[in-house]
Amino acid sequence: MLDLSTVYLGQTLRSPIMVSSSPLTNTPERVKLLEDAGAGAVSLRSIFEEEIEGAIENLERQVEHTEAWDYIRGHEMSHGLDEYRRLIRGCKETVSIPVFASMNAKSSSFWVDHVKALEDAGADGIELNLSVLPVDYHDTEERIIQFYVDTVKKVKQRISVPLAVKIGYYFTSIPSLVDKLYYAGANAVVLFNRFYQVDIDPVKEDLGRMSPISAPTDYTIPMRWVMLIYGKTPIDLATSSGVHDGETVAKMLLAGATVTQVCSTLLKNGVEHLHAMRNDLEAWMRQKGYSSIDQFRGKLSQKHSKRPKSFERLQYVKTVAAHA
Ligand SMILES: Cc1cc2nc3c(=O)[nH]c(=O)nc-3n(C[C@H](O)[C@H](O)[C@H](O)COP(=O)(O)O)c2cc1C
Repeated sequence: MLDLSTVYLGQTLRSPIMVSSSPLTNTPERVKLLEDAGAGAVSLRSIFEEEIEGAIENLERQVEHTEAWDYIRGHEMSHGLDEYRRLIRGCKETVSIPVFASMNAKSSSFWVDHVKALEDAGADGIELNLSVLPVDYHDTEERIIQFYVDTVKKVKQRISVPLAVKIGYYFTSIPSLVDKLYYAGANAVVLFNRFYQVDIDPVKEDLGRMSPISAPTDYTIPMRWVMLIYGKTPIDLATSSGVHDGETVAKMLLAGATVTQVCSTLLKNGVEHLHAMRNDLEAWMRQKGYSSIDQFRGKLSQKHSKRPKSFERLQYVKTVAAHA
């Protein structure tokens, strides 16, 4: 009997394959399908700062009396939160796998007063999706990192459930950022958020849409950072981006991941694909003689490598030589 369990954000997951924040996790019925297909846990679709701000702005445009704005702001805020709280409660009543709430923040103070409401609705943990697109020359890396650290500290003060922070990979030093987030109180990092990419339609000479779906080769970026970070800070490491099959789950665990999050592959292949991913992971473990994940987690991380310097190579020295 293989033991696929793993401990993430203080919860024991029956499988290291969990479903990331997305439309796959936006109703209790969908979350139930994911549980039935073998998901270890779910991160619910995010509640977005802009979502509520947008609704507030729309209403404000329709209202003449400025004194009504405060009321509207409060009403919309609680309406958006109520809906999200219903989602959390509905999922907790429907499934027994851990359910993490996800909130997307672009300003430090917006969620701080409201995050407790997500915990009170029954979330087993909070995933904080922090995303800042630095478009202003005042947005120095130092300021952005300070925003991340301050937000984590403030959110942590308000909740008692564990906190994961989902980040993008546009940082000068990922290990240093992860370390700072750990000391600010984060229990896990999710590597990485996948940002919406803008395209250009040259025919219409207008902005175009890029597919939000990842490619199966995208896993190499989070895998590299997990290999480098594993064992150097006690923080849980979740990977997100490009995990499309069971073999890639095995790679991420060998790198040192605590869990792997999946989304695009299920949007493409259906939630039943979770069964195939688990079966492939189990088949690989049997072939290798492993009976639990702890026997091989982080085996190929830099920490356990006899050639740690080889993880730091950025240039194609050997590849270039091989193709000369
Ligand atoms: C249609 C779609 C909606 C998403 N919505 C969210 C969201 O609400 N919150 C979030 O943190 N990530 C969201 N994501 C990002 C995913 O959670 C995930 O990080 C990303 O797709 C990379 O993982 P993948 O390669 O397994 O798809 C979304 C992704 C897709 C494709």
